[in-house]
Amino acid sequence: MYQWKGLIQEFKEYLPVSNKTPIVTLNEGNTPLIYSNNLSSIVGANIYLKYEGLNPTCSFKDRGMTLAISKAIENNSKAVICASTGNTSASMAAYSAKANIKSFLLVPDGYVALGKLSQAIIHGSEVIKIKGNFDKALELVIEISNKYPVTLVNSINPYRIEGQKTSAFEICIQLGDAPDILSIPVGNAGNITAYWKGFKEYKDKNNIDKLPKMFGFQAEGAAPIVKKQKIENPQTIATAIRIGNPASWEYANKALEESNGYINIVSDKEILEAYKFLAKNEGIFCEPASAISVAGILKYYKNFDIKKDFNIVCVLTGHGLKDPDNAISQSSQIKEAIEPNLDMILERIMS
Ligand code: F0G
Repeated sequence: MYQWKGLIQEFKEYLPVSNKTPIVTLNEGNTPLIYSNNLSSIVGANIYLKYEGLNPTCSFKDRGMTLAISKAIENNSKAVICASTGNTSASMAAYSAKANIKSFLLVPDGYVALGKLSQAIIHGSEVIKIKGNFDKALELVIEISNKYPVTLVNSINPYRIEGQKTSAFEICIQLGDAPDILSIPVGNAGNITAYWKGFKEYKDKNNIDKLPKMFGFQAEGAAPIVKKQKIENPQTIATAIRIGNPASWEYANKALEESNGYINIVSDKEILEAYKFLAKNEGIFCEPASAISVAGILKYYKNFDIKKDFNIVCVLTGHGLKDPDNAISQSSQIKEAIEPNLDMILERIMS
């Protein structure tokens, strides 16, 4: 009987592991690539959604975290630390719980979605809220991990990128080829770096002659790469990508340049439109930051010569349940409870 045992087991010939690496896994990866009828007919090409919200802690971070925590254990680390807008911390917390090591996290107070914070807490991470943004938190954890015996598991840890690149492998396997365009949200820029590395490595090993163009999208108020300058006080409703000084900035630029790609901004309003569109028309609930990969394609596809047989993959990085507050505030008001009376209920249905 075949059972998926997580991405390290599945892709070990592509990863920096040996027989001695203790594999810490929650059977992450193997997420679906879902064809979108509605988006395909709007854009006039095949649009697929890589639904990374279906990983064990409901975001793509699990791909990098299985490897980062496995290598931390192999190297006898007893504790890990990260700065996070929420998803990295949820993933670190779960994989550290599984590995039975301590985990510490710094988060920007007031800007982490409820679901993510609840995951970090229930898995037993030490949550330290700071009166500052993600960029400040990242600076601090880098300093702490340089001075003290605690392993940094943000995406500047190269094992994070190694794990995350496996999503590119899965897309090539699922499509039977590389896509023409890969559309992805850009925050700290680790994921765009990882996918590009993954596509290149998969092509080299598997007789594929195509590489995708990498399309990255940033929120209008948090778009340092598009604007080519640090943003001191980044703002967006998509708190996952509320970042003004991405750690992998240079690598993102390299991926964009080498792939002949594209990066641009999307407003919060456009992000929320795509978020609701996916929920209402595709049955897919992703978090606002994830919807930017679809919003960006919808906003800019007319600027490109998109052919009918193009395969465009939009990465949906995290599950919508991460951020229930946003979902509820976007919906029309839930009405007051009424008596369990048939006539009253029929009246409500007919109104
Ligand atoms: N989408 C989601 C849902 C995220 O949580 C993140 C990053 C991104 C996209 C952007 O990916 O940073 O590799 O460019 N979240 C980090 C965190 C910063 O702390 O959870 P990136």
